[in-house]
Amino acid sequence: MPTRLNPIQVESQVDKVVMPDNLKVGLMVAEQRKNCSSGGCTEEFYGLGFGQSPFHVPPTLSKALAESADKGHYSAAEGIVELREAISNFNKRHFKLDVDPSRVVIGPGTKDIINTLFGIIKGGVILPSPSWIGYRPQIHLLNKHFHTFFLKPENNYKIHPKEFEELVSKLSGDQHTLVLNNPHNPTGALYSKQELENLANVCREHNVLVLSDEIYALDTFDFSQFTSMGEIYPEGTFVTNGLSKDRSAGGYRLGSCILPTTSSEKLASDYKKVAATVYTNVSTPIQYAAIKAYEPNEEIDQYITITRNIHRIMGTFLSREWGSINGISTTKPQGAFYFFADFNNLKNSLIKKGVDTSNKLASSLLSCPFHIAVVTGDACMLEPDNFGARIAFVDYDGKSTFDDYINNTPKMPSDEIEFVKRNAPRMVRSTDSLRNWVEYIQSD
Ligand SMILES: Cc1ncc(COP(=O)(O)O)c(C=O)c1O
Repeated sequence: MPTRLNPIQVESQVDKVVMPDNLKVGLMVAEQRKNCSSGGCTEEFYGLGFGQSPFHVPPTLSKALAESADKGHYSAAEGIVELREAISNFNKRHFKLDVDPSRVVIGPGTKDIINTLFGIIKGGVILPSPSWIGYRPQIHLLNKHFHTFFLKPENNYKIHPKEFEELVSKLSGDQHTLVLNNPHNPTGALYSKQELENLANVCREHNVLVLSDEIYALDTFDFSQFTSMGEIYPEGTFVTNGLSKDRSAGGYRLGSCILPTTSSEKLASDYKKVAATVYTNVSTPIQYAAIKAYEPNEEIDQYITITRNIHRIMGTFLSREWGSINGISTTKPQGAFYFFADFNNLKNSLIKKGVDTSNKLASSLLSCPFHIAVVTGDACMLEPDNFGARIAFVDYDGKSTFDDYINNTPKMPSDEIEFVKRNAPRMVRSTDSLRNWVEYIQSD
């Protein structure tokens, strides 16, 4: 008789999954802080890794949540009808999408919705690189087949339709799903209507479905430039969105998906079946509260406009400052809270200093005394020899910055620079630290 339990074994696909960037960056920073404080270092840290909205939950929403606390019952797996109606109207108001509520499903965050969709939709997935870290680990856990589509700086990190067609025309299998993220985490790139139309034409031609992750749509700096893929390619697009970014309620865990116009009743009922099997329903109080986040509401509209403007000001400033440093080029974000910094011009110097993979770039930037936390390598789905990093420009106090924007709304470009200096001094100083780091990397 064995006297003790064998070590617990884990399924092999779990080993293929990397730690999500929020956990990975948090752990790396905590360890570096510990090492620094035990060594007596007092230099500050620059938190450009974790991409969480710095702002407060709009009061209308938090109040509605308190008022919904007594909704203790289970609900329909696809979401309560009042919320799906509110989301349907919201999509008409903001995104020109005419969506019957029967095509709207709710999930516990868009991450979970994307996972459910990957599990349901047959065929391989086409994943751009770089991209948000969330997609690939889910695909690994589901043991699903995927193809990488490499985004190029000369195409502004957008999917070039001709190159995309070259890839899809070579794929075997009769159905594939492209993951499109617009605006794009990690580059802040935005697709024009024409670019989406060109891409949709290729998708139609080759029977490619699109999972359009539009979680940053309302954080498009010039919102008049945003078009939903759901408008361009309604028959083949699953549009996902949620409350995490533009309404700063990531912890509420509420996302939605608009199913394609060609979805059969069976597809909708398959979605419900899987949702009911895996999580039963999204927390019912959250669903009731969320109705307020989608209904017409001046306070929320104003909140979205202000926070989007602050993101524009911060992102424009920091990407310009970082991009002015020799050896580093940066994207100019048009939405979301990220830009992409390309360090490949420093490759030889990096390798000489032992930074020989993209994953090690993050450790080097975080090392003492530079203390710059960013997301690189696996966490952006980058190849090991691609020295790129995602820079999140949300390292400031959201509440006081929001109030300052209301009281001292910047009007001129020079006011915007002063606004950044006043509210995000640490982000401003990150550029000095980066300059010192580049000097160190290039030193003999
Ligand atoms: C591109 C992208 N998609 C989806 C998500 C997940 O959003 P949610 O909080 O709704 O699960 C994130 C969160 O960081 C993201 O950046």
